[in-house]
This record gives sequence, C-alpha cells and structure tokens, in this order.
Amino acid sequence: MICIILGTRPEIIKMSPLIRECEKRGLDYFVIHSGQHYSFEMDRAFFNDLNLPEPEYNLDVGSGTQGEQTAKILTGIENVLMAEQPDVVLVQGDTNTVMAGALAASKLHIKVGHVEAGLRSFDRRMPEEINRVVADHISDYLFAPTGESEKNLILEGIPGEKVFVTGNTVVDAVYQNREISNEKSEIMNTLGLKSGKYLLVTAHRAENVDDRVRLSGIINGINAVSEKYRLPVIFPMHPRTEKMMKEFGISPGNIRIIKPAGYLDFLQLEAHARLILTDSGGLQEESCILGVPCVTLRDNTERPETVECGGNVLAGTESAEIQKAADRMINFMDYRKTDDSAKPESPDNKLWQNPFGDGRTSERIIEICLKD
Ligand code: UD1
Ligand code: UDP
Repeated sequence: MICIILGTRPEIIKMSPLIRECEKRGLDYFVIHSGQHYSFEMDRAFFNDLNLPEPEYNLDVGSGTQGEQTAKILTGIENVLMAEQPDVVLVQGDTNTVMAGALAASKLHIKVGHVEAGLRSFDRRMPEEINRVVADHISDYLFAPTGESEKNLILEGIPGEKVFVTGNTVVDAVYQNREISNEKSEIMNTLGLKSGKYLLVTAHRAENVDDRVRLSGIINGINAVSEKYRLPVIFPMHPRTEKMMKEFGISPGNIRIIKPAGYLDFLQLEAHARLILTDSGGLQEESCILGVPCVTLRDNTERPETVECGGNVLAGTESAEIQKAADRMINFMDYRKTDDSAKPESPDNKLWQNPFGDGRTSERIIEICLKD
C-alpha cells in the first residue's frame, strides 16, 4: 500500500500525476493532507481543478511557527501511519509537511520516497533548504529530477543505489492540464488580457516578503519594468504576501493584485505572459517548460538548470537589478521572435530544452515503488 502525503499548493499540483497514476493502475493507496494550506484558493481550488479524489485523512494543522506546525504534522502523520501501516510513503518537495512526513515514516521503519530530491540552494537560512536536506537523508528512494540534483545527493554521501533520476512530476502536471486549461479557462477574457502583453508576478518566500526592504524592492522594481515597457502587471497574491503588504503599509502602485488563481487559470496566465517575475520554485520550472522567460526574485536558486538552459535569470530583490534582468530577458525574447518555430505557447518550445523530463515521471516513480 502506498501513502501519498501533501499539504500545500505546490504539493497538490506536483502529486496529482502520482495520484492519477495510482488510480489508473488501480493500486492500493491513500492520501494524507496535512492541512498546512487550507484557504479555498490555496487548497480546495486545486482538488476541483485537477479533479482529485478527497484525501482519506486531513489533519487540519493550519498555520503556526516552524516548530509548532512541523510538530503538529509529525504527530498527526505518525498516528495515521501506525494505524494504516503502508509499505511506502511518498512526500514531494521541501515544505514542513515533507520533512515531518518523512521523519514520521522513517522512525516507524516505513520506506520513504522523496519526490524532487537533491535540490539545493546551499542557503540554510531558508526553511525549505533544511527540510530538503533532512528529507533526503532519511529517505529510501530519492527521485532526483535531473542529473544535477543526483550529483548533489552523491556529493553528500547518499548511496547511489537509492537515487533515481526520474524527471520532475511538474512536467506531467503541465502536459496533463495544458489542453484542459486551454478549453476551460476564461481568465484571459475575464481580466481583459492580451497574449504577450502583460507581466505575471508572484512572490511569497519568507525571506523576501517578511522583510520590508526586500518586499519594497520587488514592488518598486516591477513597477519600473511595467512603466518602461508599458505592460500591465498581474500579481495573484499569496496570503502571506497580502498580510505582509498590509503590515508594512506598502502600496502596490500600478500592480493589479488578484486572489491566488486556480491551476487551470494560472497555466493560461503563465503561458501568455511576456515575462514572469517570481520567487516561486514551481514557476521557475513551469516557465521553463512553457517557453516563457523568467526573472527570479532571489539571490540563489535550487533550480540552476533553468538558468543554465537560458530560460531564467537571477535578479535578487533590488529594483535596479530587477530592471536589468527584465531588460535582458525581454530583449532576448524579442530577438528570438523572428524565428517562427519559437512559439512560447507550445509546451515543447524550441527556445530552450526543458531540463525536467518528458512528462512520464510519475509512471517511473510508481514502477520503482512497486519493484521492491
Ligand atoms: C509554504 C512552504 C513553502 C512553499 C509554499 C507554497 C514551508 C516552510 N513553507 O510557505 O516552501 O513554497 O508553502 O505556497 O513549508 N496562509 C493562509 N492560508 C493558507 C495558507 C497560508 O492565509 O491556506 C497564510 C497564513 O497567514 C500563514 C502564512 O500564509 O501564516 C504562511 O503560510 P505557511 O504554510 O506557513 O507558509 P507559506 O508561506 O505558505
Ligand atoms: N500557482 C497557481 N496559482 C497561483 C500561483 C501559483 O496555481 O496563483 C501554481 C503554479 O502553477 C505552481 C505552484 O502553484 O505549480 C507553485 O506554488 P508556490 O509558488 O506557492 O510554491 P513553490 O513552488 O515556490 O514551493
């Protein structure tokens, strides 16, 4: 029996292809939702959009300090695992849900599979980096998306036989939902947006939005880019960022803030953007897959493949640096537009090679789990 653990927006999205794979094969599996994300737009919206079955367990842990939240998830998951005794537990990514899930399972001697293993920002100030390192070192199967993530694991002394380069399930999610999004989403019309004629922004990293200077730098830089290129800005705002904008009294200027979007709508917003500016991990990957250039509002990234292939550039959070990075990526795309084969709308874009696999990552992961 397989247990799939999830708790936040990106985990629901990136676990959805694994859930579908289990359904397709008629496997014995169940889902634990930690409840780390709980607002409709951060949680239920994705179960609806992705047509996912109800999780068998919802721990409803909600928000809290790092320790408080992690402890509640750990206790809740331990209770379920002791009762259910699955053969393998799958966790995905780098959230508190992932670390707590991996820890609970490994102490009960249940096999742990870490989906998206081996990513490293080498910045231990990020809670996510600590979660990743811990989860990787207590997992039995490490599903590394790329050769680079595999290398990180080997360099940390993790035995090679535990590591499998599978690609990233984010590609499966994009491929499985892109057509459905084209058919169903009306967001472009609703917001009155034209393809290639707006900037898409997201930011929610604690080290950015909980810091007044960094958050102001992001808002100022984006306003400057918008003014220079006369492009409107759409910013589906994470609740954490909304809270901090209010607390710091920061004005959004000309940025159009909307509620976090569902996945089908968000895929449209991403695919048609002229440029994406973000501190999100998932957006760095998805922009790369969709062929839309990305400016990352961070000083480092655990997804260096996106920079190496030419789809992404690191800007930090200072206004002048954001403007420079946006100039670079917009100019690059304008230059490439002369080439007809380079259509950003195509999931198999020719602008750069997508480094995260062929969209069959979930199949590979389930095969490996079933082998033992
Ligand atoms: C978490 C993850 C982060 C991931 C992000 C995905 C950790 C340490 N962080 O960050 O790695 O990139 O999810 O979006 O695990 N809130 C709501 N409604 C919700 C969820 C959160 O209003 O459904 C607000 C609360 O004020 C809460 C704050 O957002 O205090 C932060 O939520 P939390 O889950 O602690 O961290 P995220 O910033 O969402
Ligand atoms: N996303 C979404 N609606 C939004 C913003 C993001 O559906 O308004 C999706 C996005 O497509 C990606 C995932 O959420 O798949 C990224 O989540 P987030 O940025 O919260 O977390 P991270 O990837 O940084 O951990």
